[in-house]
Amino acid sequence: MDISCTQDELDLFKRIGAVAAKTSVECYLVGGFVRDKLLNRPTKDVDIVCIGDGISLAHAVSDTYPGKPHVSFFKNFGTAHFRYEGFDVEFVGARKESYRNDSRKPDVEPGTLEDDQKRRDFTINAMAISLNATDYGKLVDPFNGIKDLEDKLIRTPLGPDITFSDDPLRMMRGIRFATQLGFNIYTETYDAIKRNKERIKIISQERTTDELNKIMLAPKPSVGFDLLYRTELLHEFFPALVALAGTEMIEGKGHKDNFYHTLQVVDNVAARSNDLWLRWAALLHDIGKPPTKRFENGHGWTFHGHDAVGERMVPKIFKQLKLPQNDRMKYVAKLVALHLRPISLSKEDITDSAMRRLLFDAGEDLEDLMVLCESDITSKNKQKVRRYLENFALVKERLKEVEEKDRIRNWQPPIDGEDIMRIFNLPPSRNVGILKTAIREAILDGIIPNDYDAAYAFMLQKAAELGISQ
Ligand code: CTP
Repeated sequence: MDISCTQDELDLFKRIGAVAAKTSVECYLVGGFVRDKLLNRPTKDVDIVCIGDGISLAHAVSDTYPGKPHVSFFKNFGTAHFRYEGFDVEFVGARKESYRNDSRKPDVEPGTLEDDQKRRDFTINAMAISLNATDYGKLVDPFNGIKDLEDKLIRTPLGPDITFSDDPLRMMRGIRFATQLGFNIYTETYDAIKRNKERIKIISQERTTDELNKIMLAPKPSVGFDLLYRTELLHEFFPALVALAGTEMIEGKGHKDNFYHTLQVVDNVAARSNDLWLRWAALLHDIGKPPTKRFENGHGWTFHGHDAVGERMVPKIFKQLKLPQNDRMKYVAKLVALHLRPISLSKEDITDSAMRRLLFDAGEDLEDLMVLCESDITSKNKQKVRRYLENFALVKERLKEVEEKDRIRNWQPPIDGEDIMRIFNLPPSRNVGILKTAIREAILDGIIPNDYDAAYAFMLQKAAELGISQ
């Protein structure tokens, strides 16, 4: 395997090497940068390990630049960092062990290069390249990470129980790398994840979720979720997703495994969109199925109301996973709530008003909803899939026609709550809401046209029914 570097990278490495030589400190490129370069993946994160004080080296390198980029550092960890011309450069002094068994405090006892390499997470992340004059450019690879790169294997440099006990987040990282890179996890390493899964609980949920999001953004997120499920790491922090797994038989009738169906939907969405939150909507679209599952005699398995139940579960899951409690969450909840609607429009003889209603409810998220629904068609029967997709294309066509005609998306009814309060001299109250909703529904149902005069007349009539006068 070969490494090709840009001129900017070479300038940076030469500069670091020269500064280190002046103070007789050995230094090496290490970790993710080496791995990504060998894999030909783009990277701007440069990790440098030196046999000595990483913080002093970072300052000394920064001092050679005209603008002297600001160096931030953590004395306890012996790490320092600066940004320069798009690079994130991180320095660390080689250490012996990261953590002692009896404490969560990092131990920064100085060590050799190999000491440092063996306490890294995976062999493919433990390779170093010398920046020293005597052997500049030489690969230092005591754990044969290069072979694991070729064999596409995630393997810990030491016994996996030791590596994972140093930092249990590495179990998530291993699965994340396997997903991002399309690698397999070495059997012993995989078994150790199963064995140590409960230790993930000592890691903050934010860090675990950060890895989950990276899995979600990979080309085929299902690889990671399947590994999380099979190692049972998922069971530790996401039981609602695990509850989707499995099938049940009654009177010879079964239902599909909703966990693997969900993973297929996530992959289908991933093939169509890079949006993290649309992928989350795919992961959670059927999350309401386990609590709504029933066996109805003579009918079979049903999941009535799983869309509404799922919508209500989204905020709780976002809170547990420390995902943002903002409009991203509302967006995911909305798509979960609406995920059955477009498909249902392909089944009956559909009126314009049903189309208008979906356009109104989905608003600016209609395209994303359609991507989710199209991705939700996962039958193994190819003919069935083709038929559904054809029907679906017709629904899309009809929606487009109705939208062009009625302009319902981003639409506001011609009379709003403020108008109603002014016209009837009402304070904010239930009746204002009733009138407002009645006007909107009447327009969406096509009972009255979408204009002010018609809405005004309709409102007077409704108000009279409620005993409200001007
Ligand atoms: N590392 C480790 N254990 C961790 C985190 C990091 O051993 N829990 C080491 C690995 O050698 C890793 C390097 O520190 O390559 C840099 O870590 P980081 O920047 O988090 O990861 P990368 O490997 O660079 O990958 P990515 O940027 O995709 O997270």
